Amino acid sequence: MAAPKKSTLKAPKPLVAGNWKMNGTKASLGEVKKLASAFVKSKAKCEVMICPPATLLAPMKALKAKGVALGGQDCHAASSGAHTGDVSATMLKDAGASAVILGHSERRADHLETDKQVKAKVAAAHGAGLLAIMCVGESLKQRKSGDTLKVVKAQLRGSLMDGCTAKNTVIAYEPVWAIGSGLTPTVAQVEEVHTALRKALVRRFGDEGAKMRILYGGSVKPANAAELMAVPNVNGALVGGASLTAKDFGGIVKAYT
Ligand code: 13P
Repeated sequence: MAAPKKSTLKAPKPLVAGNWKMNGTKASLGEVKKLASAFVKSKAKCEVMICPPATLLAPMKALKAKGVALGGQDCHAASSGAHTGDVSATMLKDAGASAVILGHSERRADHLETDKQVKAKVAAAHGAGLLAIMCVGESLKQRKSGDTLKVVKAQLRGSLMDGCTAKNTVIAYEPVWAIGSGLTPTVAQVEEVHTALRKALVRRFGDEGAKMRILYGGSVKPANAAELMAVPNVNGALVGGASLTAKDFGGIVKAYT
């Protein structure tokens, strides 16, 4: 029998991204400097990113010199125009971002964003040269009714266009019920979803889908980070509350030392 073909694909470099949501003013810049220093000292083998409110992107630009990337939390699908209050991918890039979180469940819930709209935003992000961090996740009701895989796979299908690559797209699995609740799925539940997402990505994008990072998000803390990050097909974390302090975020990044 022929020996199984050895994969030539390199494992993707993990990404730990902090989603600051609607938190932070210029007074937070000191904390973020501490965070960057802690990351540099830790020599962690992962990429680190902070996604602050858009108002803080430019003031945080100096972080990039320390190896901390910056991301936005949403963008409009158009690059400019009459869209009061919105920010475009081009503007985020101009302010220092290299990535943008799209389709977060809080945007899907608060702003009724559909998969189709998220897909248009992903295209806009790629067009501006930004990495799209596209979020999927089930509600508690959907989990309880056994629909988790169906829900996340439909979101994945509907929110990405053909031709996405590992360089321009990251997926974040964030169960809605685990966000800000202190609850996390079991390791087996995380593995089940990440495996299903990986299969769907490979089926659609081939080798690019095999290399695409799939982050876990939802109540990631220093105490549970190592266990969650060790789950197969978990290639990093999208962290909310615990990304606001250097101590907690540093504790999570440590999972990769
Ligand atoms: P928490 O880490 O606060 O649960 O938030 C997760 C999240 O929504 C990150 O995008």
